[in-house]
Amino acid sequence: MADPVEPVTRVRRPWALTFFGLLAIAGLIAMPILAGAPDGEKMPDMVRFLGHFHPVLLHLPIGVFSLILFQELGLIFFRRGGERRETTLFPMFFGAASAILAVVAGFLLYHGGGYEDNALADRHLWGGLIFAVIAVLTFVIKAWTAAVAGNQAFYRLLLFGSVAVMGFASHDGASITHGSSYLTDYAPAPIRKLLGLEVNEKPKEEVKNEDQIVYADIVAPIFERRCVQCHKADKAKGRLRMDTFDLLVKGGKEGEGIIPGDADNSNIVIRMELEEDDDERMPPEGKPQVEPHELVIIKWWLDSGADPAKKLSEFEIPAPVQQALKQLAPFSAPAGAEAKPVAPGDDLKSLVAQLSNDFPGALGFESEESPNLTFTAVSLRGNLDDDGFKKIESVIPQLVTVDLSATKVTDATVALLSSAENLRLIRLAETGVTDVSLETLLKLQKLESINLYGTQVTDAGVRKLAGLTNLKRLFLWQTAVSPETIAILKEKLPGCEITTGI
Ligand code: HEC
Repeated sequence: MADPVEPVTRVRRPWALTFFGLLAIAGLIAMPILAGAPDGEKMPDMVRFLGHFHPVLLHLPIGVFSLILFQELGLIFFRRGGERRETTLFPMFFGAASAILAVVAGFLLYHGGGYEDNALADRHLWGGLIFAVIAVLTFVIKAWTAAVAGNQAFYRLLLFGSVAVMGFASHDGASITHGSSYLTDYAPAPIRKLLGLEVNEKPKEEVKNEDQIVYADIVAPIFERRCVQCHKADKAKGRLRMDTFDLLVKGGKEGEGIIPGDADNSNIVIRMELEEDDDERMPPEGKPQVEPHELVIIKWWLDSGADPAKKLSEFEIPAPVQQALKQLAPFSAPAGAEAKPVAPGDDLKSLVAQLSNDFPGALGFESEESPNLTFTAVSLRGNLDDDGFKKIESVIPQLVTVDLSATKVTDATVALLSSAENLRLIRLAETGVTDVSLETLLKLQKLESINLYGTQVTDAGVRKLAGLTNLKRLFLWQTAVSPETIAILKEKLPGCEITTGI
């Protein structure tokens, strides 16, 4: 009996591999959709642990795919006769598999929290994910191309595509960790020019104070910050536009927006001076309000004739207005230039560096150009208590985000934070804080996100948070807070997303 002999030409088609490849793709795409919004505070340590492998793993697919790219280019440009040559399949498998691992780890890192409200992180997540999907697809197509000895053009196209997406995704990733200007910070002037970046050869001439045009350089930027978002071309509330002088005069439904020479009868001033609980007050409740010194300047400009072209030097400036202009100083940048945050001074830098010895990695600047600080106790956990936190007391006013989850801090630490006037985010999950801390938080009007997961707070304390009009997220899982209180809060803070885990 002779063994059945397979015909030599028989092609083994990679069905199983295709099946698992498609499965992996489906899994990748489903991952962020099924997982929902990041809920870092509920994440088990294991997830965080795995997430932290992302920065290690991500270099594997980058290396492997770069290698394959160069191999492939070599085959394309240095052909030998008509002979069919192709790269081997295994590196592609390894590259695609490591891409999946890197993306999953990256996703866990993202989901571990800290990246909410970060458009760059979102884009990086999707960029990485799309790369992994194309990588798997490229691998499957390559397997087929090799099996049936088909034309390699489609596979190569996919390969180039995946490397391009990889480039974008890695750049975003690097921008998250190093800041977006990391690569180009020290680039020579011609290269910076080529990239359309500012060239710092000589400092730009500053517009001197007295040369400033009052409307364009001082008043219009105030409108820009407080009003124009709702009063512009595609969104002219009350049919009023405030983005040009002429349209401001023209006004809206109720007639002229301003009356030159008469601030008190100018509609915009009338609206800005209404009582705070008046529905017609501008800007509307909950939006950043006009500061008193800004109003002083606007009224002075209107009373003095609202000339759109007059320079500061052509005015006689009364003392209160001078005072108000001084308060405005950091913003009165020349028209067109964005108000830049002040870079941290050397003193602050060295203080932070010194404090970082006690808390490695916990304290840092929000960005290179900003003196704002962030503090995260994720790696300290139970090792941080009130006495420990007190060490950074001197920089507390600079803090904008603070994560104290699962540390041993109490109400005493939160009391210290009352001087952190710019605080936007605070995490107190699984700490010993009580309603006493909520009294402190109530003073921090810039707070946008508070996490009280697993704390002892009660209805009475949490209800007071309704006074934080800028609040956008409130986490209350595993607390004794009742559904009635949640309902009251939801009504008082319609813009706030309250998560209870119920
Ligand atoms: C968040 C959106 C928003 C912002 C910011 C805002 N407004 Fe308004 N504004 C509205 C809406 C909505 C109306 C129409 C309802 C009404 O008349 O109260 C309106 C109407 C007005 C009107 C009446 C126009 C007319 O003729 O009917 C004036 C004047 C006005 N706003 C001035 C201002 C000024 C000044 C600022 C900035 C200090 C400002 N608004 C900021 C939403 C906004």
